[in-house]
Amino acid sequence: MKKSFLISLMVAALVCAFALPNVMAGKEVPADMVLKAPEGMKAKKTPVQFSHGKHSAEYKIDCMTCHHKAKSEADIKGCAVAGCHDQPGKKEANTFYAAYHSKKSDASCVACHKKMKKGPKSCKECHPKNK
Ligand code: HEC
Ligand code: HEC
Ligand code: HEC
Repeated sequence: MKKSFLISLMVAALVCAFALPNVMAGKEVPADMVLKAPEGMKAKKTPVQFSHGKHSAEYKIDCMTCHHKAKSEADIKGCAVAGCHDQPGKKEANTFYAAYHSKKSDASCVACHKKMKKGPKSCKECHPKNK
């Protein structure tokens, strides 16, 4: 057997050993996703690429920082579910827009990027023009 193959096997075994308990403890962490406006809302901007996996595993952001209303990992729901960020407009905390751009909450994409001085902050970095 080649040495490189053995190393890959060991790496795979390690990944399983660490990943499985995480998956079983709560909901499976979704992979990267494209975020778009909910049905019924006329989108003015292009959909947004979001590296969900990296934000969680690589940037080490706790699930509950973003999923701030969930009581446990198993209780995590989408941002725009009824009673959360389900309103049109921009001003109030319960708008769809606020979930991603509010300056007041660390749960929002823009607020966290500004605070950490990392990640995209300008409209066109997240909402690219030609799409
Ligand atoms: C940096 C922010 C962030 C972090 C950290 C994060 N998530 Fe998410 N997650 C999101 C966003 C944004 C969505 C998309 C929500 C939507 O479409 O309304 C999402 C969606 C989800 C969904 C699908 C929800 C649904 O039913 O639509 C699950 C499940 C989920 N995340 C679990 C997790 C778990 C478990 C962790 C931690 C291991 C985690 N997330 C960490 C931002 C985050
Ligand atoms: C609590 C903090 C936090 C939140 C909330 C957050 N991010 Fe980030 N984001 C980061 C950090 C840290 C980086 C890493 C930047 C680096 O290492 O250069 C990053 C990087 C990124 C990048 C560039 C690198 C990559 O992984 O693609 C994109 C795009 C991005 N974020 C989109 C989003 C979107 C969209 C949301 C909201 C749904 C969001 N982020 C929410 C902290 C956050
Ligand atoms: C860190 C990433 C990020 C940045 C920076 C950002 N947005 Fe967003 N924006 C999102 C996400 C994620 C959504 C939710 C998904 C969607 O609707 O595309 C969104 C949704 C929107 C919406 C509601 C949906 C729509 O298409 O009409 C508007 C309006 C909007 N953004 C405008 C802006 C403007 C204007 C700027 C610059 C001032 C900006 N965004 C900067 C991530 C970002």
